[in-house]
Amino acid sequence: MCGIVSYIGPKDPVPILLKGLRRLEYRGYDSAGIALINKNNLQCLKKAGKVSFLESVIDDSAINGFCGIAHTRWATHGEPSDINAHPHLDLKKKIALVHNGIIENYGAVKEVLKKRGISFTSATDSEVLVQLISELYYNSKEKLSFEDAIRAALQEVVGAYGIVVICEDEPGKIIAARMGSPLVLGVGEGEFLIASDASPIVEHTRNVIYLDDNELVSIKDEKFSISKIDSKMIVNKTLTKIDLTIEEIEKGEFPHFMLKEIHDQRHSISDTMRGRFNLDDGTTQLGGIADYFANILSASRIYITACGTSWHAGLIGKHLIEEYSRVPVHVEYASEFRYRNAIIDNNTIIIAISQSGETADTLAAIRKAKELGALTLGVCNVVGSTIARETDAGIFTHTGPEIGVASTKAFTAQLTILIMLALKLGRKKGVSRQKGKKLIRALRHIDQDVSSILNISKKIKKVAESTWKANNFLYLGRGVNFPVALEGALKLKEISYIHAEGYPAAEMKHGPIALIDENMPVVFIAPQDESFPKILANIEEVKARKGIIITITDKINNSLKLLSDHTLVIPKTHKHVFPITCSVVLQMLAYELAVCRDCEIDQPRNLAKSVTVE
Ligand code: M6R
Repeated sequence: MCGIVSYIGPKDPVPILLKGLRRLEYRGYDSAGIALINKNNLQCLKKAGKVSFLESVIDDSAINGFCGIAHTRWATHGEPSDINAHPHLDLKKKIALVHNGIIENYGAVKEVLKKRGISFTSATDSEVLVQLISELYYNSKEKLSFEDAIRAALQEVVGAYGIVVICEDEPGKIIAARMGSPLVLGVGEGEFLIASDASPIVEHTRNVIYLDDNELVSIKDEKFSISKIDSKMIVNKTLTKIDLTIEEIEKGEFPHFMLKEIHDQRHSISDTMRGRFNLDDGTTQLGGIADYFANILSASRIYITACGTSWHAGLIGKHLIEEYSRVPVHVEYASEFRYRNAIIDNNTIIIAISQSGETADTLAAIRKAKELGALTLGVCNVVGSTIARETDAGIFTHTGPEIGVASTKAFTAQLTILIMLALKLGRKKGVSRQKGKKLIRALRHIDQDVSSILNISKKIKKVAESTWKANNFLYLGRGVNFPVALEGALKLKEISYIHAEGYPAAEMKHGPIALIDENMPVVFIAPQDESFPKILANIEEVKARKGIIITITDKINNSLKLLSDHTLVIPKTHKHVFPITCSVVLQMLAYELAVCRDCEIDQPRNLAKSVTVE
């Protein structure tokens, strides 16, 4: 939530910062702003709306300098407006700050500052921080240095932050600090960048350092130093090489990142699986957690904790892990799990699933579980992310960067990992080699299956064209496909703003059936497995109430043809791989519906890609 980028070095910072903001825009797009130091003179421009609005203002005003900070906002405190946009300046207009996170005690700090005569221009929590830094720097009896004023201010605030600060009095210096919100330092040849993630950095250098909580980096005269915020103790950190290509973070020929990422699934699921199979033995190899298999197998229970789409992946993971390994699995929203008195001991395993690895609730959930003695494992996509670093061990999904706010390829990668984990555990618990081989063969066929699904995209588009005016959709599935229905409904809500619900198909009769009439499209997930006769009966029930039936199946028959208004037939696969292939259809359907409704697909209203605040 919110994207930060800053630059210090010999080049013109403006194009670097603007390009960086565009790369970070998936983290928030309520407003954008930039501040630069140009010969002892601080300039700042900010604008409500997307980065493109800011760019148009900058074209006119020729702002320049040799170091600068920039921000793209997802509003928490204060509406999206020019005034509430970052950077925020102090009263003297000498210090500029960009902030990602929430200052929880901003109200109390603001009151104290107001009593000292400081007036505020914005409704944000972030402005309080820059005013506090300024007050400590210019007015404290101890005559604090700029850096020490920042340290002192950070010790007075409670909450989460990733900040970067510049000051007119110290024109060649940039200071950044982190507590809870991610910051990456890029170390180039005589130049440095600090950003919320590596995407604005990759073009300039591949050498990065991930800041940890309670760390402050100060950059001056082509040198940087990292120290603890509170104790000033120097921290020696090693450079990490980022493994990211420019192509991976650009849309290429696609009109939207979401469509690109849906198409990436022709190879990304194989990328997730690469080197992780042992076909001869009908099992998988998951090196990242190899040392902990015995713990997992003997665990009293596993909790899977996550948010949003990753939580849906967890529900499917529960189904599979319990079926293959018979270890009990509970799936919990991280936002609930972190605050309840769950039964956790040192025989409990916590699996945190997170694409970004930065989701605040998921991070808090694993921190709590760790404190209570549980073993924590991460299933993350972003290497170097906080959850990846704070869990005891983990498995990376390796699906490449996901930029579209609506998660697509990260979800199918998470499912792939969970299938592989379930199989690995199952093989140790007596699942036969033959059964394992069958599952692996289906997984290995997935590139072709996804390509076949993308070949029916015209048909999916036709379904969208005939249903896009609906105000509500129902998604129904059974067993392992119930969470697939939930995920299909979430995708639709997020990007098309159509209200949608996912239900276990049989639950429809216990309430939602009251909603069904000739205006209600109902998406049935109906593979020809043991649950098929049951789901056929549910389809009949909707037909009897004149609902519009959209069926996704892997084998068409006459009854389905007669009952359905639209049928989407996808390749037959293993019943535990079907949730992956079916999800691709649901992603395409949501995408096409959003296109019909002319929605902002990659930047849906009110959303941000990674939710780093509570
Ligand atoms: O990065 P995470 O997987 O932890 O994110 C969790 C959710 O915020 C995320 O899945 C969200 O629901 C997506 N926008 C769904 O498309």
